[in-house]
Amino acid sequence: MRKQLIAGNWKMNKVLSEAATFMIALQAKHWPEDREVLICPPFTSLHALSKELEGSKIFLGAQNMHFKENGAFTGEVSADMLLDLGCSYVILGHSERRQVFGEDDTLIHNKVKTALKKGITPILCVGETSEERRAGDTKQIVKMQVLHGLEEVHDIEDLVIAYEPVWAIGTGENATPQQAEEVHAYIRSLIYGKYSKRVADKLRILYGGSVNPANVKELMAQEDIDGVLVGGSSLDAEKFSKLIMHDVSENSFSTENQ
Ligand code: PGA
Repeated sequence: MRKQLIAGNWKMNKVLSEAATFMIALQAKHWPEDREVLICPPFTSLHALSKELEGSKIFLGAQNMHFKENGAFTGEVSADMLLDLGCSYVILGHSERRQVFGEDDTLIHNKVKTALKKGITPILCVGETSEERRAGDTKQIVKMQVLHGLEEVHDIEDLVIAYEPVWAIGTGENATPQQAEEVHAYIRSLIYGKYSKRVADKLRILYGGSVNPANVKELMAQEDIDGVLVGGSSLDAEKFSKLIMHDVSENSFSTENQ
């Protein structure tokens, strides 16, 4: 049984005071044990939030890292630095990193290898653009990104893949549950082919792209969707806690203190 992962990617949003306010509000919420909740804030909030989250059930992750262990890489952050701050996860190969910062599959698989070696769970992001989907190339693109992203990676016991169609990110136009499930099942079959059935059955595959409290339930009902990676709807603690509960009703979550 794969444990659900509900992950918030704040991107370049929230100064420290806003991040702290969010975390106080989210920690007051309750959710069932069957799901893991992860927040990936900007680097600048990691230190303070790791202190705030000591003893909490909320996991902390980063949005990027460098693949080298240390050295002359101005502006970069290493795996050890993230571990030092209590990060359990790191998002790698997000489409904004690929498109805006020119990251390619070689760079991304180097990062994946380093994260796995260091014991941080990589969330490897893949997904096609709208042109690629229209051209019928979705599976081919996803296959290339998954297989190149995992090149020379032999052990993926501790890895998460996020399918995030680029056309759905930040647009309000999410993939339908059927569209998402089709790609998720395909990704699982690729992992089966490259590794084994046991590894494929264990792998968590998240969907990302305009996930909100109204559409999360149907997405999560799909067999191969094991969680969600959420941008915009993760910025508000009330909205995000509704999303964690997969329920739009106002009374679906508790606000008691932990
Ligand atoms: P979105 O972003 O939920 O705002 O579409 C998702 C992501 O980029 O991870």
